[in-house]
Amino acid sequence: MILKRVLPFSQELLTRVIEPGNSVVDATAGNGHDTVFLAELVGEKGHVYAFDVQVEAIQSTAEKLQQANLETRATLILDGHENVASYVETEIAAAIFNLGYLPGSNQEIVTKGASTIQAIEAILHKLKIGGIIVLVVYHGHPGGEDEKNSLMDYVRELPQSYVHVLSYQFLNQQNNPPFIIALEKMKAK
Ligand SMILES: C[S@@+](CC[C@H](N)C(=O)[O-])C[C@H]1O[C@@H](n2cnc3c(N)ncnc32)[C@H](O)[C@@H]1O
Repeated sequence: MILKRVLPFSQELLTRVIEPGNSVVDATAGNGHDTVFLAELVGEKGHVYAFDVQVEAIQSTAEKLQQANLETRATLILDGHENVASYVETEIAAAIFNLGYLPGSNQEIVTKGASTIQAIEAILHKLKIGGIIVLVVYHGHPGGEDEKNSLMDYVRELPQSYVHVLSYQFLNQQNNPPFIIALEKMKAK
């Protein structure tokens, strides 16, 4: 199969951009899969800042990092990604958002359009030129459609001289398949 599913494509985008020594953000740590993936990419001298609003998610991410022997490469932050500017002072090479709810957990705790956009704005500000933000948009759950719509409205209005915006999605799959929005910063605002 030549066309990649959403998860491998999001990882390919991150792999293309992230270099050893970079600082990066996992905006939705969840069970920690992306945090571990990022911690491997940034190497010993890089760092991952991983956010989640649920204690269980932070604990699960901490365990995954320990199992992989990568815990020194990440700072786990029990707070909303909309507050990223309070925690991350360095330049960022890349960020990933997996929107929606944590599988196997409380489905009422979901990402929301307004705070997701606030986080994107803050990360764009800290993103290096050529850096990327990858959003994996799950939208089949209650509230998911609203978040998707406000996100699409927001990214469509971003000036193309500032940010390139790409969407990667299957158009003939059933049941609201997730899709990717990728933002690449082209110049300082
Ligand atoms: C789809 S899950 C993430 C899956 C994760 N990337 C993984 O590898 O397992 C979405 C996560 O976003 C978290 N979340 C919801 N609102 C948030 C916010 N404002 N800031 C940070 N995380 C948030 C949820 O608690 C949930 O764990």
